[in-house]
Amino acid sequence: MAVSQSELTQAWRTVLDLSKVRPDETVCLLIRPNIQLRNLEAAEHALRDIGAFSFKLEPVMDKRPLRDNAVAMAALKSSQMVIDFMGLHILRGNEQDEVAKAGTRVLYTVEPPDALVRLIPTADDKRRVRNAEAVLRGARQMHIVSKAGTDLTVDLGEYPILSEWGYSDEPGHWDHWPAGFVATWPNERSARGKVVLSPGDIIFPFKAYVRETITLRIEAGYVRNIDGGFDAEVLREYMGEYRDPEAYAVSHLGWGLNPRARWSALATLDKAQTNGNDGRAFAGNFLFSTGPNTDAGGTRDTRCHFDIPMRHCSVSVDGKQMTVEGKVVAEGQTPL
Ligand SMILES: [Fe+2]
Repeated sequence: MAVSQSELTQAWRTVLDLSKVRPDETVCLLIRPNIQLRNLEAAEHALRDIGAFSFKLEPVMDKRPLRDNAVAMAALKSSQMVIDFMGLHILRGNEQDEVAKAGTRVLYTVEPPDALVRLIPTADDKRRVRNAEAVLRGARQMHIVSKAGTDLTVDLGEYPILSEWGYSDEPGHWDHWPAGFVATWPNERSARGKVVLSPGDIIFPFKAYVRETITLRIEAGYVRNIDGGFDAEVLREYMGEYRDPEAYAVSHLGWGLNPRARWSALATLDKAQTNGNDGRAFAGNFLFSTGPNTDAGGTRDTRCHFDIPMRHCSVSVDGKQMTVEGKVVAEGQTPL
């Protein structure tokens, strides 16, 4: 589906309205080379329509594009909102935290126009994510099982909750368009059990579907064994290349809540153009991950990070069933 520029501009207008951008606000468009120019143009157009002030900020991309650039950081922090086409959270410093602490709303956007228009967020997306977040708040344990053999238990409480609903309407909130999921990080060394990846599960950053079973044995918070055929061999080899024991830590865990995100999107989207958020957000997935926890305020900053949305899993939180065999069932949420 090819979308027109006016459809794209309208989508941006909807998202900026949901993000409560007002005419008296200043919005920073944070850019870098090779971004999707149609998105930038549509965002600028929609901001003009609202009557908000906007400006582009393009730091020179070196090792520290922003950290030591006090003027650029001041520009980000004094904006009411940052539309992030660059990836503030990808920088290996605390730039994103600093901007959030200043109260700036941040919306990260890298997907191609077609995906943005298909996945225009709604207030209902936020409601579902907030309901799921309420279940995680104060929870002690998450348990994930599947017919394929996954049986993973983690304790909770040490780390914050990551909620993404697709727009940024609260001071200091970071979000991602498109999105629609909730996650948290397991307590240190608490993840235990087995994760069985099955055909159709998705491995990011490979942006590839699993084609044959991979079994991960998990002890005291770390993946200790990766068994299986060719797919397992690639995963094992890739993780090993980092020569970093922290690469094997279990990272954020959660589930997808976006009924419009598509598991199959990766089969058709240009992989060079997509970050793959359909895969991370499709309703009912269990999003398993490995690697860093710096986003959660932890100190594990390994460069090896996998996001692995899995199908057909059942996720429960303190005994309360959130998904059953890949379908969202939690109370307060529309059955999908
Ligand atoms: Fe991740």
